Amino acid sequence: MAILITGGAGYIGSHTCVELLNAGYEIIVLDNLVNSKIHTLDRIKEITGRNFRFYKTDLLNKAEIQSIFLENDIEAVIHFAGLKAVGESVEIPLRYYHNNITGTLNLCEVMNEFDVHNMVFSSSATVYGLQEQVPLFEELPLQATNPYGRTKLMIEEILRDVYVSNKNWSIALLRYFNPVGAHPSGRIGEDPNGIPNNLVPYITQVAVGKLPELKVFGNDYNTHDGTGIRDYIHVVDLAAGHVKALEKVMSSSGVIAYNLGTGTGYSVLEMIEAFKEVTGQAIPYQIIERRPGDIGISYADPSKAKKELNWEAQKGLYEMCSDSWRWQMNNPSGYDVEVKEQENLSVTPL
Ligand code: NAD
Ligand code: UD1
Repeated sequence: MAILITGGAGYIGSHTCVELLNAGYEIIVLDNLVNSKIHTLDRIKEITGRNFRFYKTDLLNKAEIQSIFLENDIEAVIHFAGLKAVGESVEIPLRYYHNNITGTLNLCEVMNEFDVHNMVFSSSATVYGLQEQVPLFEELPLQATNPYGRTKLMIEEILRDVYVSNKNWSIALLRYFNPVGAHPSGRIGEDPNGIPNNLVPYITQVAVGKLPELKVFGNDYNTHDGTGIRDYIHVVDLAAGHVKALEKVMSSSGVIAYNLGTGTGYSVLEMIEAFKEVTGQAIPYQIIERRPGDIGISYADPSKAKKELNWEAQKGLYEMCSDSWRWQMNNPSGYDVEVKEQENLSVTPL
């Protein structure tokens, strides 16, 4: 019996593959590689010493998903595959709706056909929308502010309807806060296309000298230093949360949402300072106006996941920064080029 990982070559998916293989699961990876590289799969094999099947398949191709289910004995699916860039989703919303929603519909239809009803779905804290009330807990009313967020919200609702129609379904909706960091081996990590949108990859590219300075989006929020506060969570902790959620869905039924966050928020300036201390590199920055659509403070109440999944984040800010930095140093061009040693870059304790 195997676990199908859609989007398993991506950032969070690849780290989850490692945790699943280390926990003894048999996995099958499905990915169309639209936002990932095939080399990631070799690195997963290298880290774990385990092999697995890979299908270069698009979820929009239902016949190919059916073939995968025919060829394999699949007992559960962890569904990461989707497009995730907020700004791009505003520019090309139809592509986002088609890819994320039609892809999920195809997957669910094939799962129904093959009587596979266990699913862990990658949702996002973005479904809480513009609430200023913190910490964010699972029962808050949901709202989305952009097409990407709406795909997550719609898929959550679709999956609830699917369960109502057939009570064999067992689905965990995992609402991630801000995933950062990389595997401590430095072999897998986040490899954004072009100039990063998110804070941590931007900071590491400034630290390594690829980008000249960070633009801090506003210092007039109602926070202790005026800059935005987020709940950054180490991707290895996040990956471990998927193993726990998988155990849960395979032993119960229903649709349950869980926050995966640490419960602690850090401001942009605190993140800059932490990176500077860990890397020893200056992070030049300039305060500019707020980014449209940003909220001031977002952090999780992670108590439901602790109580029901027996999961909580273990890794702190030091590991988030040092592991992101090790990945960036060892792979300055992501998966494209490897530079094994760079003498003038180092990781120092906080
Ligand atoms: P990622 O882009 O690195 O991984 C997604 C993977 O899905 C990629 O490898 C991509 O090639 C694949 N994919 C996309 N569309 C596909 C399709 N139609 N068929 C097959 N494969 C397809 O992203 P990630 O950061 O690893 O995120 C994983 C999931 O978690 C996504 O659904 C994302 O929306 C969600 N999420 C991410 C974050 C974050 O900050 N990284 C936060 C909240 C939620
Ligand atoms: C982003 C996504 C959101 C997603 C979340 C988790 C956007 C608009 N939103 O939100 O949908 O769920 O990631 O992955 O992309 N910052 C800067 N300068 C930068 C980049 C960021 O100051 O160059 C600040 C932001 O204003 C924010 C913080 O850093 O206060 C974190 O930003 P980011 O990493 O983009 O995450 P989110 O804003 O939480």
